[in-house]
Amino acid sequence: MKLTPEQRAQFERDGYLFFPGHFSPEETKVLTEAVPDLYSKRAAFNVREKGSDAVRTNFAAHLISEPFARLARHPRMVEPVMDLFDEAVYMHQFKINGKMAFEGDVWQWHQDYGTWLNDDLMPTERAMNVAIFLDEVTEHNGPLMFIPGSHRKGVVDAKHDLTTTSYPLWTVDNDLIRQLVDRAGGKQGGIVSPKGPAGSMILFHSCLVHASGSNLSPFNRVAVYLSLCAVSNHIRRHQRPEYIAHRDFTPIEVLPDDCLLTPYPVEVPWKDGLPESALRTSPDLIETVEA
Ligand code: SIN
Ligand code: MN
Repeated sequence: MKLTPEQRAQFERDGYLFFPGHFSPEETKVLTEAVPDLYSKRAAFNVREKGSDAVRTNFAAHLISEPFARLARHPRMVEPVMDLFDEAVYMHQFKINGKMAFEGDVWQWHQDYGTWLNDDLMPTERAMNVAIFLDEVTEHNGPLMFIPGSHRKGVVDAKHDLTTTSYPLWTVDNDLIRQLVDRAGGKQGGIVSPKGPAGSMILFHSCLVHASGSNLSPFNRVAVYLSLCAVSNHIRRHQRPEYIAHRDFTPIEVLPDDCLLTPYPVEVPWKDGLPESALRTSPDLIETVEA
């Protein structure tokens, strides 16, 4: 799947592209049905909400569950990203965010590349975020909020927030958010929230400033977030464990387009639990960044 010149221009301008209903209800169901088993596991890869048992984020499902291993190789997801980067990509991070009914907590304003730079020493912004909705996203269940065009600011100031939620994040302060929203149109389009049926997909730039509110509705908002990094741009530091920031920089080889409905063989090396190596960190290991 290639992007049109109009889509490329839109991505450059706004920092995101929205594909409503990109995966069919049958394809999405295969993924949705695999989530409860993953979320039920008492393991490091399930981060629960502060003071609650609800899963906030689940890591590395593509190494544990076959349906998600197939999604990680889906041409409808991977090819547009390769097209934009004009390079092969590897999986830097794979999350299934719960944002569960009544319990799903906020994600503060942030840029993902800020974390990848500060924590993982990823050299440049050549990594893409992909969101795939496993539930319908409405104005009620904590949709993502984007500040269109904010990616063009590059990396902005951020501070490491270790207290607001159960998951540490490099967050952007309110004054800067106010400025960015004003610059993007203020009340007229300065914040947008793509909403749509389960199976919808968003590609968004790693410097796009984004957030989401809590989910006080009775409807879950489960969504997959994949981060695909250009192979030449792989991370240089292993300060975070491998199940969060992957260290296998092998280019993704895509499967056929029907891979969510046809059980092509895929490897799920962590299906019986995380190996000890996936939990290890080596904060001092810094690979030289080639010129
Ligand atoms: C994220 O930014 O990584 C998650 C945002 C969300 O799930 O709303
Ligand atoms: Mn994010």
